[in-house]
Amino acid sequence: MFTKTLLSGLVLAGSLTLGNAYNYWVKLPNGTFDLTRSDIMSVTKPKVIPFSGRRKSAIIEPSRSVLCIIDMQNFFLHPELSPSATLGRAAIQPTVNMINAFRKNGMKVTWVNWGLTNYDLLTIPPAFKSQFSKNDYANSTFGSDMGTLERNGTTIAVGAKLMRGAWNAEPYGVLGEMKDAGDKAGTDLVFHKNRLSGLWGPQTPFGLWLQENEITTIFFGGVNADQCVWGTFIDAYFKGYDVVWVDDIAATTSPVYASEMVRYNANSDGFIGNSTDIIKGLGGC
Ligand SMILES: *[C@@H]1O[C@H](CO)[C@@H](O)[C@H](O)[C@H]1NC(C)=O
Ligand SMILES: *[C@@H]1O[C@H](CO)[C@@H](O)[C@H](O)[C@H]1NC(C)=O
Ligand SMILES: *[C@@H]1O[C@H](CO)[C@@H](O)[C@H](O)[C@H]1NC(C)=O
Ligand SMILES: *[C@@H]1O[C@H](CO)[C@@H](O)[C@H](O)[C@H]1NC(C)=O
Repeated sequence: MFTKTLLSGLVLAGSLTLGNAYNYWVKLPNGTFDLTRSDIMSVTKPKVIPFSGRRKSAIIEPSRSVLCIIDMQNFFLHPELSPSATLGRAAIQPTVNMINAFRKNGMKVTWVNWGLTNYDLLTIPPAFKSQFSKNDYANSTFGSDMGTLERNGTTIAVGAKLMRGAWNAEPYGVLGEMKDAGDKAGTDLVFHKNRLSGLWGPQTPFGLWLQENEITTIFFGGVNADQCVWGTFIDAYFKGYDVVWVDDIAATTSPVYASEMVRYNANSDGFIGNSTDIIKGLGGC
């Protein structure tokens, strides 16, 4: 039978259960949301995380919680490819701190990035090709050769626009190094996406991994906050994951009203916090 229990199996008077036996939250009498689903899933060392939106705190199960970093790629962040991305570049240090805190707790770090294949180029709709082109020239959109960059006497082949393995599609600077190291060590996972959202349609590589690993709770950051981060966040919410918007690791080059819309809605859909508070809840980095 399905009962409202806390981690210990104790039923707390005044708790509220939302959901069903397969996917539920318990709101504890002190207002904290218990996201561990501990009646049906194992718990290791749950953490109480402070948030700053309408839901002030939650208990998460580390083995079912992941950090999802969207599109912190050279294409969107490198000063020569995206000069206006100052907020995105400012999000790098807090992102590094979050990565370290997640890894320290054995929590997976997922890199969900544009990484197109030739097959994707056949199926991606015209509206997307227009959006990512220069003057709607087909030869400037996804898959087109972006030429070279000169950096301190070194020539960098920027590569085919947002294609898998191209330099422009690699994470920017220190994040690229951390992705490579984490991928090698098995603490991090890399997923390619072919739309703004990494969870669109019936299933994606990222979605399949989340499902197979019984992940329940996703912390989001990356660029652009109102486009690819938002697209993935809202699909995760639609699909039944607990979604956490991490304010200071998500950024955009769009006007301020775009960030305000995202934050306004993220507050209804899930949890909002900043890296400082979340890392404190995780016990440091
Ligand atoms: C709310 O109560 C739970 C269960 O006693 C506890 O684990 C949690 O830390 C409390 N929340 C806060 C914010 O203190
Ligand atoms: C994080 O949020 C808390 C609570 O709202 C606030 O006190 C703190 O100043 C914020 N820190 C940053 C770095 O924004
Ligand atoms: C790209 O297409 C435009 C429009 O057809 C053309 O004017 C331009 O020369 C092409 N550029 C390259 C590099 O082929
Ligand atoms: C290029 O050289 C300048 C001056 O020596 C240095 O400050 C800068 O960090 C270098 N940039 C890269 C990307 O190596």
